[in-house]
Amino acid sequence: MLVNSKVLLEDAMKHNYAVAGINTTSLTMLRAVLKAAEEEGTPVILSHAQLHEPYAPIELMGPLMKAAAEKSTVPCSLHLDHGTTEAYIYKALSLGFTSVMADFARFSFEENVERTKKVADVCHEIHVTVEGEYGEMPSNVTGQGRALPEGESLEFFFTKPDKAARYVEQTGVDSLVVSFGSVHGIYIEEPKMDYERLGAIREAVPNTPLVMHGGSGLNEEDTRTCIDGGIRKINYYTYMACEPSKKLVQFISSSGKPPYFHEICEYSRELMKEKARYAIKLFQNRG
Ligand code: 13P
Repeated sequence: MLVNSKVLLEDAMKHNYAVAGINTTSLTMLRAVLKAAEEEGTPVILSHAQLHEPYAPIELMGPLMKAAAEKSTVPCSLHLDHGTTEAYIYKALSLGFTSVMADFARFSFEENVERTKKVADVCHEIHVTVEGEYGEMPSNVTGQGRALPEGESLEFFFTKPDKAARYVEQTGVDSLVVSFGSVHGIYIEEPKMDYERLGAIREAVPNTPLVMHGGSGLNEEDTRTCIDGGIRKINYYTYMACEPSKKLVQFISSSGKPPYFHEICEYSRELMKEKARYAIKLFQNRG
């Protein structure tokens, strides 16, 4: 069933776990993620990122995701991930998305606050949940996010606890993306998570669900420590999306005949379902 993301985040706050927010850039992925959630009997946030528009247009993917969420046997919400322009965010609202990420962290703190507040005011009028970001998520290999400025370390992007409190208060966002060591894409070196910072952010905004992006590729211990430190939603995509790549070469070459494209999709769906299942279960934090 389709639900508001806020309901899912509130439950995660109450029971110390994180809801998986998984990007679905095709019908194959959408079905893989939903099947994993249904088989595990856990809620899931189906996400569409603005960045993926060229190959998954929101006007096609949005209604597909909505129909799938409505039919699902587990609570699902429909989330716009990394909405980087107001126009795109409002398009998501018109398509029935139940939450949106206002991604304006690349601007100055003041401009980020101003733009996010405007979006939040509109969203709240129609009971849509808003995820804000203060602090940035740089990228390793996917090219998403800003590159590190020359001579700066990762900490340059990290969320500062006192400003996080100001950001939440001044924008009215319902949840907050925080930057403390995870990155989007493939990790090319072991991430070093700043748990002290996460603890200070949690203290500064105790009633705001915290969101971690760049959640695929983190090891289990780190993931659990993040959840115990207050992370209530984890974004997951890259490691699931890359899972079929190597195995497909073997699948195609051992088929004896050129497989149909739908056979390739079905093979990939099974592989991605298992990755999604792994993430959803891990984020449930059941020990
Ligand atoms: P990964 O690249 O680690 O899968 O993270 C995805 C993400 O954060 C999307 O917003």
